[in-house]
Amino acid sequence: MAGRLEGKVALISGAARGQGRSHAVRLAQEGADIIAFDVCQQLPTVGYKMATPEDLKETAKQVEDLDRRIIAREADVRDGAAVRALVEEGVAELGRLDIVSANAGIATFVPNAWEMADDVWEETIAVNLTGVWKTLKAAIPAMIDAGNGGAIVITSSTAGIKGMAGIAHYDSSKHGVVGLMRTLAIELAPHSIRVNTVHPTGVNTPMVVNDYMAQFLSDDFAAANMMNLLPVEMVEAVDISNAVLWLASDEARYVTGTCLPIDAGFLQK
Ligand SMILES: NC(=O)c1ccc[n+]([C@@H]2O[C@H](COP(=O)([O-])OP(=O)(O)OC[C@H]3O[C@@H](n4cnc5c(N)ncnc54)[C@H](O)[C@@H]3O)[C@@H](O)[C@H]2O)c1
Repeated sequence: MAGRLEGKVALISGAARGQGRSHAVRLAQEGADIIAFDVCQQLPTVGYKMATPEDLKETAKQVEDLDRRIIAREADVRDGAAVRALVEEGVAELGRLDIVSANAGIATFVPNAWEMADDVWEETIAVNLTGVWKTLKAAIPAMIDAGNGGAIVITSSTAGIKGMAGIAHYDSSKHGVVGLMRTLAIELAPHSIRVNTVHPTGVNTPMVVNDYMAQFLSDDFAAANMMNLLPVEMVEAVDISNAVLWLASDEARYVTGTCLPIDAGFLQK
């Protein structure tokens, strides 16, 4: 049986591990070839260990094990020229570009919005908001040129829908991508390119399963950010991948401009 993304090519940012790797594997399982990238470096304001070049190689291996093609490169979402060069290489090699998962992101925690250091605010906005815009700016011309339509899925967060203590910078960046999504949904509709956001609750990835996060969550006020309605502490990366897959597939052909929570009911509380 043909996969749901047979013959399609997907660009995925932050693909070295966590949700990005899971998206690469899940989309490849459904027939997509993958253009993957990740910064694979520690950023100065991030308090947990970020992905490594070995992590990105492991993603490539897992996609190749599925007999799909993958181009995996180290690149920073803040470096528009690097992302453009990767898109060019990917399209030359794999023939087209149909899907973008703008997934890369960082999360840090502060006592409150007014005592946050400037560099913490600036790095988060640069990666989580401006980096998404730069990723899409690099990818959209290739999608329009191909003339096949397509789907863009931006990874926001439950923090892109409601306020949360200790993460004003993250919350602002994740609300910001919703505005970008809504605008692009309008601008790209004539090209049959759909644009949506996914809004995960806590996901079992190295971003939140680490000592830095454990320290943050020991505060009751902050821990409320992680309490779901359904009896599950965190969802798994594949739960988000399945939502990205659906939004990227023809099953969602008339879905655009929407925010899709995968939140175990968190936003209803
Ligand atoms: N884990 C959660 O609880 C959770 C909840 C809601 C939303 N999210 C969002 O999901 C997305 C994926 O996060 P994850 O949970 O897989 O975390 P993760 O830390 O495991 O993965 C994020 C990846 O992005 C990469 N990255 C960071 N900055 C980059 C940059 N400047 N350029 C390129 N790559 C960069 C990292 O190296 C890492 O591999 C993020 O946007 C995150 O904000 C996560």
